Amino acid sequence: MNRLALAAPILLALVGCTQNETDSPPAQPSHVLSDADKAALLASLPAPYNAGDLENGRRAFARCRACHTIGEGGADMTGPNLHGVFGRKVGERPRYNYSNALREADFTWDAEKLDHWLQNPRTYLPGNKMSFPGLPDAADRRDVIAFLKVETGYQPAPSPTPAS
Ligand code: HEC
Repeated sequence: MNRLALAAPILLALVGCTQNETDSPPAQPSHVLSDADKAALLASLPAPYNAGDLENGRRAFARCRACHTIGEGGADMTGPNLHGVFGRKVGERPRYNYSNALREADFTWDAEKLDHWLQNPRTYLPGNKMSFPGLPDAADRRDVIAFLKVETGYQPAPSPTPAS
């Protein structure tokens, strides 16, 4: 009796394994980054963002959450969803009703542009409708930008061998 009793669960386990090998999705969907992936992405950012503090960035972003979502496919609220904002033209989120100031502006968001915008939104693009006083602290801006790079699907350009 023992042999059969032992063999059955083993066989089931084997069948289970083969099925898993063929059907199982990757451990993580590709757009969900593990903490290790986030740390690696952070480290790959150009200075000073590679020294960013993601936890402080998350805290600073709490001030943006009232108006912005960041997840892929997230809703537009008072402000547009910010997924994929790096490398996207200003005022280009489909179906979001931008002010003329953003619609008519002509540049692509990168860390430097975002730093100026967040320092003083009112003067950076006069007439815009983001009623936010800005983040006066440069470290908070660095951290929120690093946080956004890591959380909004930013992909570093494949870089040639670094010069130094
Ligand atoms: C009170 C609401 C509010 C808060 C708080 C706020 N925003 Fe905004 N944001 C807006 C609105 C509204 C717009 C669109 C402005 C326009 O069309 O004139 C906008 C636009 C933007 C854009 C331009 C997006 C694009 O598609 O061109 C970025 C980037 C941005 N916000 C980032 C932030 C960040 C980061 C924070 C926090 C540090 C923040 N915002 C805080 C309301 C807000």
